Amino acid sequence: MTTTPRGTDRQAAARDHLWGHFTRQSAWEHGVPTIVRGEGHHLWDADGHRLIDGLSGLFVVQLGHGREELALAAAAQARELAFFPIWSYAHPQAIDLAERLASYAPGDLNRVFFTTGGGEAVETAWKLAKQYWRLRGRPGKHKVVSRAVAYHGTTQGALSITGLPELKAPFEPLVPGAHKVPNTNAYRAPEHLRDDPKAFGRWAADRIGEAIEFEGPDTVAAVFLEPVQNAGGCFPPPPGYFERVREICDEHDVLLVSDEVICAFGRIGSMFACDDVGYVPDMITCAKGMTSGYSPIGACLVSDRVFEPFATGTTSFAHGYTFGGHPVSAAVAMANLDLFESEGVLDHVRTNAPVLRSTLERLLDLPIVGDVRGEGYFYGIELVKDATTRETFDDEESERLLRGFLTPALYEAGLYCRADDRGDPVVQLAPPLTCGPAQFDEIEQILRGVLTDAWARL
Ligand SMILES: Cc1ncc(COP(=O)(O)O)c(C=O)c1O
Repeated sequence: MTTTPRGTDRQAAARDHLWGHFTRQSAWEHGVPTIVRGEGHHLWDADGHRLIDGLSGLFVVQLGHGREELALAAAAQARELAFFPIWSYAHPQAIDLAERLASYAPGDLNRVFFTTGGGEAVETAWKLAKQYWRLRGRPGKHKVVSRAVAYHGTTQGALSITGLPELKAPFEPLVPGAHKVPNTNAYRAPEHLRDDPKAFGRWAADRIGEAIEFEGPDTVAAVFLEPVQNAGGCFPPPPGYFERVREICDEHDVLLVSDEVICAFGRIGSMFACDDVGYVPDMITCAKGMTSGYSPIGACLVSDRVFEPFATGTTSFAHGYTFGGHPVSAAVAMANLDLFESEGVLDHVRTNAPVLRSTLERLLDLPIVGDVRGEGYFYGIELVKDATTRETFDDEESERLLRGFLTPALYEAGLYCRADDRGDPVVQLAPPLTCGPAQFDEIEQILRGVLTDAWARL
């Protein structure tokens, strides 16, 4: 255990003063896992225990830990101009990053509104959609459609868009007008559609059309979708899904928001994952990987069409964040994106993604593994009680398996990742984009051992 310079016991200080996010504080009574250092693809805790980072921190550390170039970029910018807001003023770092993000974005998504994180970007996109329709003379269009089990953030708007009732319940009533449709979990698709991905994609997309028609197209502002949905354990879109969603949105004058807080910046293979999937949204929300986590920033990218009514006269978007587009974060993002280019990170992901898939699919020989699904460097492994019937665990079993056994066992065995039961129980994996076959094997070996033990304990 490390101590502070004043000699305070950090474990006690954590228990007494630190409030963990989405954390049962009671679990800290048995010790607070404290990560003190990262180097490449590995992390070390305060006891010197080494772990491979199977989740890039939290889908963030695209280029791995301990990158000198990014630390130096932050220090240089802090020396030159540590802070200035982009309220009425601009600074070179925000300008250069906005131009660069626009150059990566598809279609005419040329305008960038900076935030400090992903939930704020989602919040921004909903407010922007509402004001956009108001400026277009259609103030009734304020509702949003999103998917069951999807996570979009914790501010009250973003939480309303989130499709996880148990996260929302303590804070109801939330923002009205956020409607949910089925997600694209092919493993749990309606039985008659399970063997026909195209028909499943059409069915799932048409649920969005149905929700818009049911609510009334004159009341719906936007649809929020991740290219590959994270919560629930990685649901890639079935073939034809986004093509049909785009048609539906156009038919009903509804904006399509691609929430790429996880999927952007190479996680699926391209800078923006809508390019991997093949659709052009009206807005993109992004954050996490933009700086590989070396400094926080988020953004909402907006099409020329959506920006147009804000462009002239006395109109402004009455919205902003003190730290939005922070110069240090913007400088780090530029340095991070320089490394993406000089190191050929996107090509590396595209070349190695099939190897990650085949390595993780080896786990399908374990009786507890029901499904291995994902795209790029982004995977979910669904755990089941019976792989033939796809029977899942009840709440008590899930609690015992995930919190009681898997989370500590994976940590002990040297793999940092997430065992999650916001939908059916899954292990989530999203290693740094600089990982290759050696790290995939390390992850698979640890999972194999721990999942074999978990099955024996059931
Ligand atoms: C798809 C998606 N949207 C929004 C968010 C919220 O981002 P943040 O935690 O930066 O507010 C997340 C966070 O994981 C996310 O995965």
